[in-house]
Amino acid sequence: MNKEQTERLLAMGQMAASMAHEIRNPLGGMELFCSLLSKELKEKDEKRLQDLADQILKGIRTVDRVIQNCLQFAREIVPRRAPVAELKIYLGEIAELVRARANDFGLSICLDVPDGLSAEFDPYLVEQALVNLLTNAVDAVSERRKADAREGKELACNIITLSAHQDCGTLVIEVKDGGLGIPDDVKARIFDPFMTTKTTGTGLGLAITHSIIRAHGGDILVESVQGVGSIFKIVLPQSSIFSGVKDSGSDPQSEKGVL
Ligand SMILES: Nc1ncnc2c1ncn2[C@@H]1O[C@H](COP(=O)(O)OP(=O)(O)OP(=O)(O)O)[C@@H](O)[C@H]1O
Ligand SMILES: [Mg+2]
Repeated sequence: MNKEQTERLLAMGQMAASMAHEIRNPLGGMELFCSLLSKELKEKDEKRLQDLADQILKGIRTVDRVIQNCLQFAREIVPRRAPVAELKIYLGEIAELVRARANDFGLSICLDVPDGLSAEFDPYLVEQALVNLLTNAVDAVSERRKADAREGKELACNIITLSAHQDCGTLVIEVKDGGLGIPDDVKARIFDPFMTTKTTGTGLGLAITHSIIRAHGGDILVESVQGVGSIFKIVLPQSSIFSGVKDSGSDPQSEKGVL
């Protein structure tokens, strides 16, 4: 690629980013008004019209998510490290963010984290990475439930496990599901941007997760067996294990496990 082409691509990238912002503003208004409309139709017991409004709302949220993911993917990731006093509390709150979606599908999220484990990383970026992994796990198990039901079988495991432990000086955080598992040809491309097998997926969730973990100097590994399930393992370097003095203080963040 010559210099002129590179410059043109850069300019297009900037234009796309500002266009994305311009689109997201009116989209936010549409989401607000559509949810008000849906609420009013519910109060008036207009079930059919409310369903239509909810479909529009769903579409608006999908468009917003696609734009948000593209913006996030294009941005350089610079972690802002902060001590996480109690990893168990921090991970418990992340599980809570996905629990409603899991419960909708009759699934539960189980936490397996020892007490007193502290960490140091960008809590907002790692939260985003884990929400992506947990959301994928919920999708995989709910798809398995549908497949099993078609064959008249009961779902073998409706529990998704979020766990953490120290291993040889590294911090390991795992998301384990008993979902459909990942076929080998998909597994090879799983972290590629825009690779999705879902009708409403952007295919950016794992690409962003991967970038977040690499920006922390860590790695993400996948073990998956079709028909058994998958484990996504985040391995963070020793610098991610907090060894400073704990101070719960009066900072409201500390109550959430973040100092
Ligand atoms: N836990 C899992 N079990 C089975 N397949 C998975 C799992 N996690 C990811 N995949 C596969 O990897 C693909 C890419 O995942 P990724 O999170 O990047 O995108 P997506 O989930 O399809 O879309 P989005 O994250 O935007 O909703 C998925 O479409 C799915 O095929
Ligand atoms: Mg995803």
